[in-house]
Amino acid sequence: MITRRALLAAGLGGVIAPAFAQAPQPSYPGLAALAAGKRLIFGTAAASYELHDADFPPLLARESAMLVPEYEMKRHVVEPEPGHYDFSGIDTLMAFARARGMAFRGHPLVWYNANPPWLEEAVSSSRDEKLVTGYVTALASRYRGRMHSLDVVNEALAQPRDGENNSSGLRQSFWLKTFGPSYIDMAFHAARAADPEALLVYNDYGCEPGDTAGDALRANCLKLLDGMLARGVPVQALGMQGHLSAFGPKVDQAKLRNFLSEIAARKLALLVTELDVDDEGGAWDVGTRDRAVADEAARFLDVMLDSPNLQAVLTWGLSDRYADPPDSLRLKMMGWRDRKFPYDSGLAAKPLRAALAKAFSGQRPA
Ligand code: XIL
Repeated sequence: MITRRALLAAGLGGVIAPAFAQAPQPSYPGLAALAAGKRLIFGTAAASYELHDADFPPLLARESAMLVPEYEMKRHVVEPEPGHYDFSGIDTLMAFARARGMAFRGHPLVWYNANPPWLEEAVSSSRDEKLVTGYVTALASRYRGRMHSLDVVNEALAQPRDGENNSSGLRQSFWLKTFGPSYIDMAFHAARAADPEALLVYNDYGCEPGDTAGDALRANCLKLLDGMLARGVPVQALGMQGHLSAFGPKVDQAKLRNFLSEIAARKLALLVTELDVDDEGGAWDVGTRDRAVADEAARFLDVMLDSPNLQAVLTWGLSDRYADPPDSLRLKMMGWRDRKFPYDSGLAAKPLRAALAKAFSGQRPA
């Protein structure tokens, strides 16, 4: 084999250097192109620090046709002090996306989590609607006309799987305590007023498993959407996060199919907004885990892609390189690394990537 060192020794290093600097372009089509062939947008969450890695941005641009900020649109980042906004993270990601012809989505505008400490305190002592709508208006108007869709309200439903149960079906958040369910309507009206074009999405998780918790969530989700539609609230789509589990509660394909037909019957669009597959609880053997992750995603996508109103599939990251550490302290101590995304930390494609490509290559209803 002729090594680079041997060429350098022969004085040819300068001649071949440009060839080494050029990353070889894979000959197979990217996920974005495959999805486009099926009238779908494939995208992913990303963070601006990921753009500093030399080898990652080209992969991101090739595979993904849509970006969503993984954390840089969360209120604790953007509005650390009341009325003092820092849009720099979003702007960096959006500039990257626009320069490469990628679409962009906004997430999340109203959430019970990832808020600055001042907000919860203010909401506990005041019913000023601007505490809800101010942020929605600031974001939606600044990026007006540049957002494919906005996750206006995120995770407003109670999660029976976490032991949360109440008659309203809504999460007992600080928003609900002060405003009652009306905070959801307020947020959607403010978003519509600020951006007449973006698709307005209600986004949540947990509607795929067949257990009683899944049954309750599906029913509560439909109840929430029906109420909004009956009141003339401008909700246009359901975002299903798609945080799946390879070794936990599995996707119930029949129940999911039924649920999706209920969503379609309401003329709502559908998005998979945060797909990833938790592999905690699985074997240490990487091959076994990767196959289980891919299989569960395939079972989910099989059903999702049959829904004619599905517009986009986004993963909650493209590479395990940027995955959060495992939830379990025990696994963390043992050096476990989650393998929930399509590419491993060295940017090699995994079976999950193949499962996505296969799903995007199948037939879809017109
Ligand atoms: C998570 C991010 O991945 C973390 O990095 C951040 O610290 C907290 O939020 N549901 C959502 C996402 O809607 O916004 C969450 O993202 C994951 C669960």
